[in-house]
Amino acid sequence: MIDRCCISITEKCNLRCKYCHFTSEGRRSRDVTDDEIRAIVSSIRQYVTCHNTEFKVGIVGGGEPLIRFQMLKYLVEQLEVVPNVRLYTISNGVDVDDTKLRFMWEHKESLEYCISLDGGEKIHDSNRIDMAGRGTFAKVMETVRKYEDLFGHKPSVNCTVTPQLLSEKEETISFFADNGFKKVTFSKLFDSEDKILSKDFDTLLDEASRTMEIRQLRKKKSYDCTQYGALCGVGRTNVYYASGFVYPCARFAGMKDYCIGSATDSLESIEANLRRITPCEDGLCYYDQHFVKGGIQ
Ligand SMILES: C[S@@+](CC[C@H](N)C(=O)[O-])C[C@H]1O[C@@H](n2cnc3c(N)ncnc32)[C@H](O)[C@@H]1O
Ligand code: SF4
Repeated sequence: MIDRCCISITEKCNLRCKYCHFTSEGRRSRDVTDDEIRAIVSSIRQYVTCHNTEFKVGIVGGGEPLIRFQMLKYLVEQLEVVPNVRLYTISNGVDVDDTKLRFMWEHKESLEYCISLDGGEKIHDSNRIDMAGRGTFAKVMETVRKYEDLFGHKPSVNCTVTPQLLSEKEETISFFADNGFKKVTFSKLFDSEDKILSKDFDTLLDEASRTMEIRQLRKKKSYDCTQYGALCGVGRTNVYYASGFVYPCARFAGMKDYCIGSATDSLESIEANLRRITPCEDGLCYYDQHFVKGGIQ
């Protein structure tokens, strides 16, 4: 049963993060169209209603989702009224004006708004840079302050774990703890020369969990993505919409052999194609096993 999908609403981005796996130009493709988004909404509504199942929708981007704010708004307004659907979006936190932030606040019961922040200024700015190569820490923290004024608490954040971050893990954990960030998701770097070992990642989660809520430790390991320390949902529970097509996860975007449908297909027919993929063993990542020499261990 499919129980989660991510919809990339844009492939465009206002930043050029050094580790961004979506930035390599070969991967950039066209944006999903308005008609395709309408079809996606209708197939999610139909699938969730028919199966009466919990369903998580990530409004994400191979780029920055807030660049296409009107489409994000449309998705939230259409899907928040469907019982059993939970929504989240993840943004780089740069150029978030008051209108966008207010919308997030007004829809806070149905939409979780998460910001990418890689820890303190030095570590964040070493990778998360704008088109002119400038660090974005100051701008992201300005958004964090505005968020806190409106919501009364800090936003949840996604922190991408690089070898550099692991070498400064105490400082990073202290940064989040000392600044009152309570909800942090750590995500393992992928598609990079720099490999993160699972044991080092797990140690980081363990140490961080002593001072804050590590979101991925809250629940029993479910099928989602090994990037977050969960089990791999490829061939089981996950689908990813990008540029009018559907793939088993974001890392397959653009791979014709792994295209499991088009945006206008029903989720039932996408699910039938998904079933042709034999899932990997628990604990492994399908993509790493098949496409990355040595895989991430
Ligand atoms: C692809 S971005 C899309 C949303 C938005 N542009 C942002 O940066 O938050 C979603 C998350 O993926 C992370 N990410 C990008 N490239 C990655 C990589 N190679 N390995 C692991 N995470 C990565 C980003 O740091 C970000 O937290
Ligand atoms: S902001 Fe997000 S999509 Fe844009 S370059 Fe950075 S990680 Fe990639």
